[in-house]
Amino acid sequence: MFWFLFVLGERTDLGRVLYERECLSCHKPDNRLEPPAPPLELYRTTEDYVLKIMEEGVPGSCMPRFQHLKEEERRAISRFVASFNSDYNPDLPKELIRRGERIYYDVCAPCHGDDGSGSTFGDEVPPPPDFRRFNPLPERTIEILNSGIPKTSMYSFRDILSERDKRAVAIYILTLFER
Ligand code: HEC
Ligand code: HEC
Repeated sequence: MFWFLFVLGERTDLGRVLYERECLSCHKPDNRLEPPAPPLELYRTTEDYVLKIMEEGVPGSCMPRFQHLKEEERRAISRFVASFNSDYNPDLPKELIRRGERIYYDVCAPCHGDDGSGSTFGDEVPPPPDFRRFNPLPERTIEILNSGIPKTSMYSFRDILSERDKRAVAIYILTLFER
């Protein structure tokens, strides 16, 4: 089995094979886990963050630790996951950002932190992710704003924010990445 992985050669191919084997069973679209496993292809993230999550898991969810994999295998997976959307370069209209920033500070920051780190949240689990290192694309944020996340304190904003405000705050969150 392992010679086969080596013959594949390319590092991202090793990452892809391991990702499909170790992660996709949960991280597939529309999984019914509670809280759900986010579809990782709808995020920008960093290798360090994925490595950290694989080492620590996420308390209060079924996200496991992956200590049984070799460090090199964890690195290959992290590199692969961090390559999703690494060339994403969206339009960020100033007026929308300003509007989104206001909403973010008023409504989201008490839980997600001014800087998006989620560090204001105390030890309730699962904690909010660190938007600076795990950053949802706008379509994903809007989906979460509509649905909320069951069994967590992330409630639904479906009828609380207008469509325009949801979009504005989703765009603003993009500016927190790697800040
Ligand atoms: C048994 C199911 C399961 C498997 C297998 C799994 N995950 Fe997860 N994962 C989850 C769940 C559930 C969450 C959501 C946790 C939460 O609500 O914060 C999650 C969240 C994450 C997050 C986001 C962390 C955050 O801060 O919200 C990352 C990154 C991640 N997983 C990476 C991986 C990688 C890489 C693999 C494969 C090596 C993997 N997961 C395998 C269930 C799983
Ligand atoms: C009462 C606290 C609270 C408020 C207010 C709140 N959130 Fe959350 N949010 C959370 C928690 C806790 C999680 C993590 C749930 C989990 O890990 O399953 C979360 C998760 C999220 C996620 C999913 C991240 C991921 O892992 O995929 C998004 C997107 C999000 N929030 C956006 C927002 C936005 C935008 C606002 C403001 C309009 C907001 N939240 C307001 C507590 C809050």
